[in-house]
Amino acid sequence: MGAAAFWRAAWEASVADNPRWEDAEADEAFWSDYAPNYDERSPLAACATDLIADLRSLVPADGTLLEIGSGTGAFTRLLAPSLSAITCVEPSPAMRQAFDAAWDHPMRVESIPTDWLAAPDGLRADVVLCANALYRTVDIAAALTKMTQAARKSVALVQSVGRPYTSPLKIVENGYAWERERADALSDVLQALGSNYERRDYQVRRPDGESHVTLLTWPGIAGP
Ligand SMILES: C[S@@+](CC[C@H](N)C(=O)[O-])C[C@H]1O[C@@H](n2cnc3c(N)ncnc32)[C@H](O)[C@@H]1O
Repeated sequence: MGAAAFWRAAWEASVADNPRWEDAEADEAFWSDYAPNYDERSPLAACATDLIADLRSLVPADGTLLEIGSGTGAFTRLLAPSLSAITCVEPSPAMRQAFDAAWDHPMRVESIPTDWLAAPDGLRADVVLCANALYRTVDIAAALTKMTQAARKSVALVQSVGRPYTSPLKIVENGYAWERERADALSDVLQALGSNYERRDYQVRRPDGESHVTLLTWPGIAGP
């Protein structure tokens, strides 16, 4: 089975246990409850100092950012000081509201209130960032390819690793269970797409303990 087919099969095998993956209303019900306290309960960006430094180094001076699934803006706020324009694709009204409430930078952010694959094809930025926002995406190859097409310089994908922050992808085939961390499955898909990606793994100390996160970066192909 190919890497994108594995992603799809694992997504389809687990969606019954995770109805909000395919049900936008259920996802919004979840975020309505969680969004006001997201930054406190999920402080990855605030704790991942080395990862943030590496993300900053990807952005050219006065560069532009397109962030997919920006949530409350925990990553966006940390990157904003070196940017000249920011566009966020974020489908959740509750998350967009939390973003606006926490936004503390003079720059106006362009907000596109939809899923990534439904977003306009012409979006462009120097850096495209997506952090832990691919859980509702079945066609992973299409989503990653669209990121590559939108980025002038780089795509950066941040993926938490290990429970309780992220559950691995799993399928059972012919009595065998195949399990893969999402970061590994994403690396597999990038490899299958022929992408020249780099992978960095970080240990992040959160208030509730040690955690791991992966950064996958690869070159964009958008013209100037
Ligand atoms: C776990 S939160 C991560 C938020 C932020 N990236 C961070 O790391 O702090 C996932 C976010 O992705 C958004 N999301 C889910 N599916 C998405 C999709 N297909 N396109 C764009 N955003 C999506 C959710 O609405 C939510 O705000």
